[in-house]
Amino acid sequence: MQLQKGMTAIVTGGVSGLGEATAISLLERGLNVVAVDLNDERGQAMEQKYAGRLRYVKADVADEAQMQQAIAAAEAFGNLRALVHCAGIGGPLRLIEKDGSAGSLEKYTHIIRVNLIGSFNALRLAAVAMAKNEPVDGERGACVLTASVAGYEGQIGQIPYASSKAGVIGMTLVAARDLATKMIRVCTIAPGLFETPLLMRLPDDVLQSLGASVPNPSRLGRPSEYAMTALHILENPMLNGETIRLDGAIRMQPR
Ligand SMILES: NC(=O)c1ccc[n+]([C@@H]2O[C@H](COP(=O)([O-])OP(=O)(O)OC[C@H]3O[C@@H](n4cnc5c(N)ncnc54)[C@H](O)[C@@H]3O)[C@@H](O)[C@H]2O)c1
Repeated sequence: MQLQKGMTAIVTGGVSGLGEATAISLLERGLNVVAVDLNDERGQAMEQKYAGRLRYVKADVADEAQMQQAIAAAEAFGNLRALVHCAGIGGPLRLIEKDGSAGSLEKYTHIIRVNLIGSFNALRLAAVAMAKNEPVDGERGACVLTASVAGYEGQIGQIPYASSKAGVIGMTLVAARDLATKMIRVCTIAPGLFETPLLMRLPDDVLQSLGASVPNPSRLGRPSEYAMTALHILENPMLNGETIRLDGAIRMQPR
């Protein structure tokens, strides 16, 4: 699918980190963008900066009514052809916590809700909207989800995050098969360690050693490198049903 002016993309988590970089790359290619997020301050700043081209919609990706509003905003821009779903959260949890108590079911459920249920919710609602499009070059639309290398090699303390991301990886092929007759593609990116606000909260020395643990290139990934991959997936009609690791060959250790 050739990305071009007159098309609209929804980018969830679109005002920070990987989502923000992708939203900017899509704007640079002439698309209109609906950035779905919960961060009003950054959302309003982006809406001002890209007035008329980017609309910020405050919506929880796991909430049906709120995401329907976001889709309606994208349909109002017209010609919704792309979803890049980046919204996600982390949070430590162990099966047996240090004080001997069982890991919180509430915390586990919350992370699964945002990361896994949110992916399903965004994907299904965007797909229904895209299915109404006239096919162009045999495509009605394309979707990119975001997993993590933790979906393959979760570290100790990452049980909810790793489970949610493994769920996204598991969703990818079946979603592509499910939407094949509608001519809508679905792929997932599984990032390694990227320089985003999510990671930049860590102390400098930890960031340095994380960067050094990446075999090649031996540094943290840049959000623009995620955006480059997302745009390539949207444009390459043969990429479908696949999860692509984007990680400089890192394989996470148990801790
Ligand atoms: N940064 C990394 O190293 C890394 C590695 C692997 C995977 N990822 C994944 O990439 C995605 C983007 O991460 P990032 O590093 O850019 O993080 P980030 O924190 O910079 O951005 C995530 C955005 O999602 C938004 N968000 C959170 N919950 C939401 C909800 N319920 N509804 C709508 N928006 C919500 C946040 O407000 C934030 O703006 C996440 O899914 C994350 O798990 C990141």
